[in-house]
Amino acid sequence: MPLDVIIGAQWGDEGKGRLTDLLAAESDFVARFSGGDNAGHTVAVGAQQFQLHLVPSGIIQPHTICLLGNSMVIHPETLLAEIDHLNKLGVDVSPTRLKLSPAAHIITPAHRTLDRVCDARRGDHKLGTTHRGIGPAYMDKAARSGVRAEDMQDPVAFEKRIRENMQNAAHLLEAVYGEACPDPVETAREYRAHAERLKPYLADAGAILHDALQDGCQVLAEGAQGTLLDIDHGTYPYVTSSNPTTAGALLSLGVGPGHLRRIIGVAKAFQTRVGEGPFPTELIDEVGERLRGTGEHPWDEFGTTTGRPRRCGWLDAVLLRYAVRVNGFTELALTKLDILTGMQPLLLCSAYEVEGEMVKDLPRSCATLAGLTPIYEEQLSWEESIWNAHFWGDLPPEAQAYVHRVETLTGLKVKLISVGPERDQVIRRESLV
Ligand code: IMP
Repeated sequence: MPLDVIIGAQWGDEGKGRLTDLLAAESDFVARFSGGDNAGHTVAVGAQQFQLHLVPSGIIQPHTICLLGNSMVIHPETLLAEIDHLNKLGVDVSPTRLKLSPAAHIITPAHRTLDRVCDARRGDHKLGTTHRGIGPAYMDKAARSGVRAEDMQDPVAFEKRIRENMQNAAHLLEAVYGEACPDPVETAREYRAHAERLKPYLADAGAILHDALQDGCQVLAEGAQGTLLDIDHGTYPYVTSSNPTTAGALLSLGVGPGHLRRIIGVAKAFQTRVGEGPFPTELIDEVGERLRGTGEHPWDEFGTTTGRPRRCGWLDAVLLRYAVRVNGFTELALTKLDILTGMQPLLLCSAYEVEGEMVKDLPRSCATLAGLTPIYEEQLSWEESIWNAHFWGDLPPEAQAYVHRVETLTGLKVKLISVGPERDQVIRRESLV
């Protein structure tokens, strides 16, 4: 009765979606557990690109049942648009395949307006949120004034709850921020129609997963965002408002830790971040630009959700070790190794210098990365393309050495390596099951 978890080991955008797609082939259930449509997961299958924000990436595999967990925040219009889009592309997203937890919270247009306005108010200290209403929806949840997916069972009552919630937000927006709120009455009417359509998708995700695990089914929990964006363990306040870590998966899905088998930490072979906040190994030069790409390819470093260019830098093994500690990873997946082809010099941060001393682990909370100077190790670089590498032995010795160095620095085996955007461009170093 195994539960495997895929977790972002950095600041999100590590390529979790395509690894979920890969591992979903061997899973019966795939569940998303954190955040909402601030996430953007891209899965390429041949010529088709699937961009998913809410529906688990496991949906692309035709045999899976997919779930959206309790701790998620759902924007109904986005969810419906995604369901319709996938159905149009021939992916079955009927209520037999997708289950929405009644305890998930609902995002309204007022949450989105608040998100935008509050972040703008922060001025120089803005977080650079995705403006998807994530923080304000979690604020309502914590304040116990949120609207939950279960309220959609009764679309008429749901309309009333949305209207009241929006009216409260309108008061806040107008009185405090001097900003107009989208019309509560109109929005509530639209949300009632959304509820009529989403009602059949409501199902107790925790109970389904419990029974599935008891029956010996294989469950995969698909992380969104990343460890360093975790509200409790990330670079606070430059974080999201949820827990995209292993503990967050258990919390959201309502399953105990005894079910855990593999906890797969996904890290890019370099480091990226979108939005504000500390980034010790950031490269604000042409090397960073080269890592980012020009934006002409779907795999270039531009946000799937917002289109913003991502900040890029060298792989930070100190932060990666921290992510190993927070999540209890059992193994790593290293993505986009191909992007490092031809990088000369090729650097990797293995420690920090703090007040003249070398430290190998974070000297203080992850929230305080200022004043840390990365210490880099130069790695051997390789020139030949690795796009056609299907097996470990196909990689040039220098690329193997890079992976080995990551393993030594983290104490974990890198079991999956992606060398290109396609489904088959993943090297599996051993059977995962
Ligand atoms: P929010 O989640 O929209 O509140 O944004 C808070 C921070 O998390 C911002 O820096 C966002 O750029 C970042 N963030 C949220 N979701 C993702 C994601 O899926 N990938 C990368 N960064 C994200």
